[in-house]
Amino acid sequence: MSTTVPHALDISGLSAGYGRFDVIRDIALKVGTGEAVGLLGPNGAGKTTVLRSIMGLIRQRRGSIQVAGTDVVAMPPFRIARGLAALAPEGRRLFVDQTVEDNLILGGLHLRHDTARHEALLASVYELFPVLKGYRKRLSSYLSGGEQQMVAIGRMLMSDPEIMLLDEPSVALSPVAVDIVVKALIELRRRGASLLLVEQRIDVAIRVCDRLYVMTHGEIVDEMTPEAARGAGMSLIDKYLG
Ligand SMILES: Nc1ncnc2c1ncn2[C@@H]1O[C@H](COP(=O)(O)OP(=O)(O)OP(=O)(O)O)[C@@H](O)[C@H]1O
Ligand SMILES: [Mg+2]
Repeated sequence: MSTTVPHALDISGLSAGYGRFDVIRDIALKVGTGEAVGLLGPNGAGKTTVLRSIMGLIRQRRGSIQVAGTDVVAMPPFRIARGLAALAPEGRRLFVDQTVEDNLILGGLHLRHDTARHEALLASVYELFPVLKGYRKRLSSYLSGGEQQMVAIGRMLMSDPEIMLLDEPSVALSPVAVDIVVKALIELRRRGASLLLVEQRIDVAIRVCDRLYVMTHGEIVDEMTPEAARGAGMSLIDKYLG
């Protein structure tokens, strides 16, 4: 007898927007447990709107969003953030007047009474990004862009989520910092994490992901393997990402 493992993330028929108009329409997207999936698309395609919908941060949304088998469409954001989904947002959004460690702890507030689990998660963040351990008492505003992105990813890990959402983590980073972030995401995948990676850099998504979706003008318009994306190369950029 086989049991069906629910997807880490299963979206169907999702439409959402901010005012009177939907900016994303009829989105269908799945991330299997332990899978890393990329969502590529140009500026304004609606990628961030998809991630904000999953987190419950957009009220006007219809369709179905399941995280590890739990329907989150009607759930308030604070409950979704308690171990279902976590987001490393566009622009990192750290509390810059707080220390590195305080920013990390904020990601896992609902687990702080489970001291052993909380400590294990913090240790795993420092294992992933050893540089942060040395900076744990430092104000986040003193960190480089790459180090700030590490804190944003670490904060996401601290809630021990079923699905990890990353919004363009490579933006405005040096090549060395991009490489560190990519290697960290590959390591998370190796540890069994389920990832949805929003990117405009195809090369980054190809290195990390098992499968890629392309989104333009609020709709998913293509789905492909990283190998196919690598083969398509510049023509894919010309066609969709401009
Ligand atoms: N808070 C908001 N209020 C109204 N419209 C918004 C808001 N945020 C985004 N939009 C609009 O929704 C559309 C999709 O935006 P979204 O931020 O999801 O795109 P994106 O694919 O993440 O783009 P980028 O790569 O530039 O981050 C855009 O037309 C944008 O102007
Ligand atoms: Mg965006």
